[in-house]
Amino acid sequence: MKIAVAKGDGIGPEIMDAVLSIFDAAKVPLEYDFVDMGKWVFDKGYNNGMTDEAKNTIETTGILFKGPMETPKGKGVKSINVTARKTWNTYANKRVFQTLHGVDTVFSKAGIPIDLTIVRENIEDTYGGIEHMLTHDVALSRRFITRPGSMQVIRYAFEMAKKKQARRITCGHKANIMKITDGLFLECFYEVAKEYPELKADDVIVDDLCMKLVTRPDTFDVVVLTNLQGDIVSDLCAGLVGGLGFAPSANIGDHICIFEAVHGTAPDIAGRNIANPTALLLSGLSMLQHLGLLESAGMIENALLYTLEQGVHTGDFGDKSIPSANTTEFANAIINNFGKKPSLSPKPELEDVPSTCTVFNLDKNPMLESIEEGNETIAGVDMFIESNLQPNEIAEKCLRHAGVKFKLVNISNRGTQVWPTGSKFTNLVNQYNARFESIDNYPLNQQDVIGLYVSLSGDFKISSLELLHQWGEKKGYSLAQGQ
Ligand code: NAI
Repeated sequence: MKIAVAKGDGIGPEIMDAVLSIFDAAKVPLEYDFVDMGKWVFDKGYNNGMTDEAKNTIETTGILFKGPMETPKGKGVKSINVTARKTWNTYANKRVFQTLHGVDTVFSKAGIPIDLTIVRENIEDTYGGIEHMLTHDVALSRRFITRPGSMQVIRYAFEMAKKKQARRITCGHKANIMKITDGLFLECFYEVAKEYPELKADDVIVDDLCMKLVTRPDTFDVVVLTNLQGDIVSDLCAGLVGGLGFAPSANIGDHICIFEAVHGTAPDIAGRNIANPTALLLSGLSMLQHLGLLESAGMIENALLYTLEQGVHTGDFGDKSIPSANTTEFANAIINNFGKKPSLSPKPELEDVPSTCTVFNLDKNPMLESIEEGNETIAGVDMFIESNLQPNEIAEKCLRHAGVKFKLVNISNRGTQVWPTGSKFTNLVNQYNARFESIDNYPLNQQDVIGLYVSLSGDFKISSLELLHQWGEKKGYSLAQGQ
């Protein structure tokens, strides 16, 4: 099997060489195609940080094993790490956090074992980076949560949980507040859960989840979250097991997967051969498991755990009374411990299974297909208008423009209703949402909305608008606080 390898920047080459030396000593049946990616490729004038040849190699092999990469500052270029994840639709980010003996944490000292897998949606949410200034004082970020995108990552999480015989799979969310976006994610979670009756599926609100993770991390097994919440919760979990030096990450797509450590290029220690290669090694082991190379993965992981248990450590962790090993010595210690098993929780060295990784071109994207639910109608429109008038004055003008098809239902400011009822204590900014709905459920079309837009634009600057969709009785929009 051939895989693409990018050594990366900073400590990247040092830790990648250490990990590949362990793979070579273990006779892992992989061939490496080294590709040009990273800051030095940006510096050569490639705007996305990789050469065309690198892109072709990754798209042919379907697997990229990468070291950390630096994004040049202040040149307006996007992070190569984020670009790679998005370009190749690696929709699930899997991070495994487990107690490593020899790595002291509050929980290891208290004898509380941790074995947690966080699956984070990797493409959507606010990470689309679609942001606008609506007025000089008001910024808006669009948060996309889609049904096919959510189904894809949740299905992956359930399938993975089933394979690892998980005790529990939990959806972390904030659907009590973001009823439409997180509500959709949660709905997808329970839809997929029906297909896996053998798994205990439940959900926890994300703030409560954070509290429970730091008090009882051993009660969780697999947790699936949207992108931003998953980003935050996974770093929290890294802290539970000893920090970023022990946090591996797998970016999983249907065709291309990227395996990397969570940490960055550590410029402060680069070039000194003192970096800790554990997170990259754990990412590599996750890659071997993904490729079906279970025997090598189990054997190397046992040697790593045994080495840690013996107190061997790099300078960033471990018992300071034992001299630290450098990167190469740490890798050699693992190699010398091949065949040994840790006294606590040794990993199974299972037989290899045929790899199911396939790379092919998509002629048609199945995610574009939608099963529309019921009869879709336009029930009204939210007009986002810029004004420094008081709510009553705005309402007066809006009522004049409503015409025969629309009624003004309410006006809100930062999501709080300020007309027809409200409180004089609500603070206002110069951005209102005037909600118009159709009179007597009269069916509206886009031309009606444009007519209202043109009329209103005589009095106001309209920064954006959103159609209010309805499917049968089901509303596709949230209500303002107080509505
Ligand atoms: P960082 O993770 O590189 O470093 C934070 C601290 O942790 C430093 O003190 C560093 O010495 C230490 N550290 C990190 N990895 C270590 C290891 N394996 N062994 C021992 N100590 C380690 O984060 P920072 O400084 O914010 O970012 C540096 C660069 O890395 C930036 O250019 C950033 O864009 C990039 N980066 C790349 C990532 C990737 O390729 N996936 C992820 C995060 C940052």
